[in-house]
Amino acid sequence: MATKARENHREDVAGRANVEDTPELLAYYDELERLEAGALWTVANKIEPWAPKSSSVPVLWRYEDLRAHVLRSVELVSPEKAGRRVIYLNNPGRRDHAAAVGWLYSGLQVMHPGEVATAHAHSASALRFIMEGEGAYTIVDGHKMTLGANDFVLTPNGTWHEHGVSADGTPCIWQDGLDIPLVNTLEANFYVVHPEMQQRVGYPVDDMTHTWGNPGLRPAGAEWSKGYSPLLKYEWGPTYEALQRYGKATDGSPYDGILMEYVNPVTGGPVMQTIGASMQMLRAGESTRAHRHTGSFIYQVAKGSGHSIIDGKRFDWKERDIFCVPSWAWHEHVNASASDDACLFTFNDLPVMRALGLYREEAFGDNGGRQPLVA
Ligand SMILES: [Fe+2]
Ligand SMILES: [Fe+2]
Repeated sequence: MATKARENHREDVAGRANVEDTPELLAYYDELERLEAGALWTVANKIEPWAPKSSSVPVLWRYEDLRAHVLRSVELVSPEKAGRRVIYLNNPGRRDHAAAVGWLYSGLQVMHPGEVATAHAHSASALRFIMEGEGAYTIVDGHKMTLGANDFVLTPNGTWHEHGVSADGTPCIWQDGLDIPLVNTLEANFYVVHPEMQQRVGYPVDDMTHTWGNPGLRPAGAEWSKGYSPLLKYEWGPTYEALQRYGKATDGSPYDGILMEYVNPVTGGPVMQTIGASMQMLRAGESTRAHRHTGSFIYQVAKGSGHSIIDGKRFDWKERDIFCVPSWAWHEHVNASASDDACLFTFNDLPVMRALGLYREEAFGDNGGRQPLVA
């Protein structure tokens, strides 16, 4: 006789599993379980959903709520003991993976002038988006990059990297974005501390920006074949200028306004193999139509204020707030200002979706492309 309740995900739809429990079948399932096996028809409808079912929920993290706590960590722990002094963002549906959304991790890191973190390398790829402060720098494989607000820098899979703030700088806070949950799920994550704890700067400061950061120009004879962009830093100034220039030449996307993807200048592809990034500008008064697509997105408000509607729920945001859009969630964005543009930075797992042939996109067809709000 069967001894316990079992899951059985039945659907009364042709082509889907729909087997009713009988005492004989329940006993049979027990026998299979003792052999570390099971009957697919009891779980097929669960593990093969009709459409992606994200366990993440939309969340907005307000900077004014988090900032004081981030700064307080400076009094509570040293970078030497903590390794990295970071407050991470946890999606209520993803607590077991320390993920902000889907398979993406994010946190807010703080460093004071003169502090230096230990150099290390890991299989996870990372980026840092600078939120406030002056004097921050990152060293990646001997290339030192100076960083200002709204700049972002790559620390790709396998590279030696360390962060610091120069002694004449100010307290700095930045957002870390990593694919840790993905790489751990793939059971492929290694971590190494640099044998000398710090690495030497082996090139002129900002050399990769000077070499690879010139639009439409490629240095003669320079070669690069690694899986990530040699332009390790993307600066806010040229990015904002590019958005404004592109805005003069296009009506933009009905779903995203003026959106530009950060790319590897050698390939035109994403900045890293697992993480993509973009900056979008919502023009004064702009209100986009809703769409949804596969892939998880973390947004940071780089400029301005407004709101986004995600799966029918409104999230009001202003500069430095962070919010997430889970895979296949409807989303649309509204710039609250009638006179100023608003800019949203995102990082996402689109390179993974695209590389694996899993990218899908759909427009919200009803109600003029705007979602009705749900209570
Ligand atoms: Fe790291
Ligand atoms: Fe989107």
